Amino acid sequence: MRPVSGYHIREMRREDLDEVTALESACFSMPWKYKDFEEVLTNPDRFYLIAEVDNAAADASERILGGCMLTHIAGEGDISNVAVHEKYRSNGIASSLLSELIRLGEARYGIRAFTLEVRSRNIPARRLYEHHGFVSRGIRPHFYERPEDDAVIMWRA
Ligand SMILES: CC(C)(COP(=O)(O)OP(=O)(O)OC[C@H]1O[C@@H](n2cnc3c(N)ncnc32)[C@H](O)[C@@H]1OP(=O)(O)O)[C@@H](O)C(=O)NCCC(=O)NCCS
Repeated sequence: MRPVSGYHIREMRREDLDEVTALESACFSMPWKYKDFEEVLTNPDRFYLIAEVDNAAADASERILGGCMLTHIAGEGDISNVAVHEKYRSNGIASSLLSELIRLGEARYGIRAFTLEVRSRNIPARRLYEHHGFVSRGIRPHFYERPEDDAVIMWRA
């Protein structure tokens, strides 16, 4: 784990698309592509937050430390693409991103209930979500590929 001296959280902009796509590829076996994130920029029911180092000019390859997305669907919030670069994990970055995602989702859309799906074997992510008040409400057997895994459906209401 590499300590992080300072970072802030803000919404993704067009100039972030390459680095967000690289973050996604580094963290997931079936990553979203550039065009998927580009679509988010024009979708009023979606936003993607990034954690950006305060001294961004120091090392452009590590300007964006992590990110996560919210999709507003009929009054509920679907959280996805929660990712932090491996060497910066266990610094509380995902936790900060999630807190801000929930705060903004409530403020912008009036969301009261948030949901997400997580691989059953992804213990760090499941602990992170439990930490933020999410509880397991169901299983989708064999939902994931590469590698095969069940999805745990979690809700925070
Ligand atoms: C899951 C992930 C986003 C966590 O990011 P992170 O920045 O390291 O998480 P944080 O440092 O904010 O940790 C917050 C809480 O999550 C839990 N947690 C995080 N990493 C953990 C680990 N390795 N083991 C157990 N619990 C863990 C803990 O409860 C932690 O709180 P604590 O430090 O007070 O105990 C990161 O591991 C990641 O990017 N994984 C790959 C992508 C992924 O699986 N995303 C989730 C898809 S559903």
